[in-house]
Amino acid sequence: MNRLTLTLTSLLATICLHAGNNTPINGEVWLDTSGNPINAHGGGILHHGDTYYWYGEYKGKDTYRSPNIGWECYRTDFTGVSCYSSTDLINWNFEGVVLTPDPTNSTSDLHPTMVIERPKVIYNDNTKQFVMWMHVDDHNYWQATAGVAVSDSPTGPFRFIEAIRPNGAESRDLTVYKDDDGKAYLLYSSEGNATLYISRLTDDYLKQTGVYTRNFAGKSREAPAIFKNNGKYYIISSGCSGWSPNEAAYAVADNIMGPYELLPNPCTGVDADKTFYSQSTFALQLKDGSFIAMFDRWKKENLIDSRYVWLPIDINEEGITIPWTPTWTQNMETDVDKK
Ligand code: GAL
Repeated sequence: MNRLTLTLTSLLATICLHAGNNTPINGEVWLDTSGNPINAHGGGILHHGDTYYWYGEYKGKDTYRSPNIGWECYRTDFTGVSCYSSTDLINWNFEGVVLTPDPTNSTSDLHPTMVIERPKVIYNDNTKQFVMWMHVDDHNYWQATAGVAVSDSPTGPFRFIEAIRPNGAESRDLTVYKDDDGKAYLLYSSEGNATLYISRLTDDYLKQTGVYTRNFAGKSREAPAIFKNNGKYYIISSGCSGWSPNEAAYAVADNIMGPYELLPNPCTGVDADKTFYSQSTFALQLKDGSFIAMFDRWKKENLIDSRYVWLPIDINEEGITIPWTPTWTQNMETDVDKK
């Protein structure tokens, strides 16, 4: 970043903060319409009707490090999956905790001692159900399962169905994707996070069909965020370094099941080699057809204070780039009411 860009960046941040408006500055605290910090980490967005629903990890207040584990296993108790709604992607109403923990049953997958991460929701036009997939793990991340829950309403409550090892394989970081033809897919890091599986879901989106591919074998890609543009599928992902940031990569294919060409880091600008100190979680298409990439800037020792970084994705003949910008709203003309 040159000096002029830096000056403009801090000027913009200062103007937005002093104007007291809700313009989201990447890496700053984002407030909901009640003035509370948005607590929806590792999340994804469902655009349904005229409304955007943002689901994410509703982190508990206390972060602690699980004892007797070699890696930096910081966590909070599982306190739920949150949902926020918005019609402009800027003013977010807290809709509450739509998947709640079950403190009464110590063997429940939703017990507070469990890990529930990266919830994503898609809508099934045939069953009229909202289907949530999420990473379900025990406190040391050995269970390695994917969980599924359903609701008749986007704002819940979601009813947990089960946590399974899809296709008999481990599942940790994941996302779910509904294609234009209504078919849906679960993408999950498997085999010790070394290989990304893409698995076709059944028509009700609740189970695996048994049709799947293994992608990036041995390349250790996590945090998948998938989108489709002009018939091509793009997957942004991170490397594997726990809560600490690393260099992103992306991949492109003509078919959702692959084969994918794994390509270098799409991020550009200062700290691009650390994905701007953040990690991918979701790619959202705006009404004008452009995309923004959603990232989490984790604060591993105080996870509830983790921040959001949303950036426009530039797509061109050569591929994609994700340049650093202080706010993503420059792509928003068609989504934000000009007041
Ligand atoms: C990351 C993963 C996060 C969380 C974290 C735990 O690699 O993307 O979702 O599981 O590890 O350390």
